[in-house]
Amino acid sequence: MSAAANITIHASQFPENVRRDLLASLRTRRVNHKFLYDSVKKTQKWLTLHQAYSPTRNDADCRTTYQKSFAAAAAQIKSRRVRVIGLGCGGGQKDTRLLKLLKGRGKEVFYRPCDVSTAMVLTARRTALAVVPEKNCSPFVCDLATAEDLGKTIREGRRVGDPNDPRTATRRPSQNLVTFFGMIPNFEPEQILPKLASLLRRRHSLLFSANLAPGGDYAAGMKKILPQYDNPLTRDWLMMFLLDLGVERRDGGLRFAIENGRFGLRRVAARFHFRRLRRIEMEGETFNFKGGDSIQLFFSYRYTPERLRTIFHRYGLEIREQWIAKSGEEGVFLCGGTSEEGR
Ligand SMILES: C[S@@+](CC[C@H](N)C(=O)[O-])C[C@H]1O[C@@H](n2cnc3c(N)ncnc32)[C@H](O)[C@@H]1O
Repeated sequence: MSAAANITIHASQFPENVRRDLLASLRTRRVNHKFLYDSVKKTQKWLTLHQAYSPTRNDADCRTTYQKSFAAAAAQIKSRRVRVIGLGCGGGQKDTRLLKLLKGRGKEVFYRPCDVSTAMVLTARRTALAVVPEKNCSPFVCDLATAEDLGKTIREGRRVGDPNDPRTATRRPSQNLVTFFGMIPNFEPEQILPKLASLLRRRHSLLFSANLAPGGDYAAGMKKILPQYDNPLTRDWLMMFLLDLGVERRDGGLRFAIENGRFGLRRVAARFHFRRLRRIEMEGETFNFKGGDSIQLFFSYRYTPERLRTIFHRYGLEIREQWIAKSGEEGVFLCGGTSEEGR
């Protein structure tokens, strides 16, 4: 591995835009999830939390569920070259397992790890280099929530050597497989689904996973999974955002609750409730949080397979196959665009 890495950074993560988004998070009292991952320390805390609680790390059946979905997604790739675009790649472990499988099937593999965090794309790149040649790996830092030109940028922001790059002399057709693992729950559906639809073209497919509310009773399923969020490692990770801004733990308390969201969905939300006045000064602006005020740090929508199918369909995204873990708490879904908009 060379001592330097080339990374493309989208304007959504230029410092002036990150500052704008941080001020917006404080003004609206709803934190853009990207600020939970935007430093090496927060990335490390999330990776530790993920290692401890993620079903893909700790539940053999959940790992098998992903493996089955990878095999099915790989089987429908007909071209010899394939590019995996890992949106919100995190540490890149899942994408690397998929890339390994594709390589094992004789494919020439290319990887574009995309994440809001530079530390994450570098971690994903390092993980993937066990399988992908360095020249075929093109990390991309981008805020999926605010980038309006996502499809265009991801399709055009290619490096020489990339199979779809017009500059590549021996250009041969390749297929793109977009992955979106563990991301759907942390976005408002109306914000992210049009973007995913715009990314998918005839030769593209999307493999994504979602945390689910288990069982036939949605409300009871939500109650069952609530304790999964309320644990010391998650609290520690979420609190980093406020502590970095000068908030002290004794200023208030973090509470987790089930809330109603759009499209009849429910979600788990974490809010910090202030017990006393805390003043935050930033960029010449003062933010006063009085006792009784709160700020939303995190939310996670829990879908059911039926709700996913219906809501995706509204945005021209057709779920073609699904693999649900025995626990009923996680599923992987394969889909392609149906409408012109989705191509
Ligand atoms: C729950 S993790 C999922 C990581 C990985 N896909 C997995 O399944 O292990 C969420 C990831 O999304 C990234 N992320 C959060 N908000 C984002 C945004 N607005 N745009 C791009 N990436 C974002 C985080 O940096 C983090 O790596």
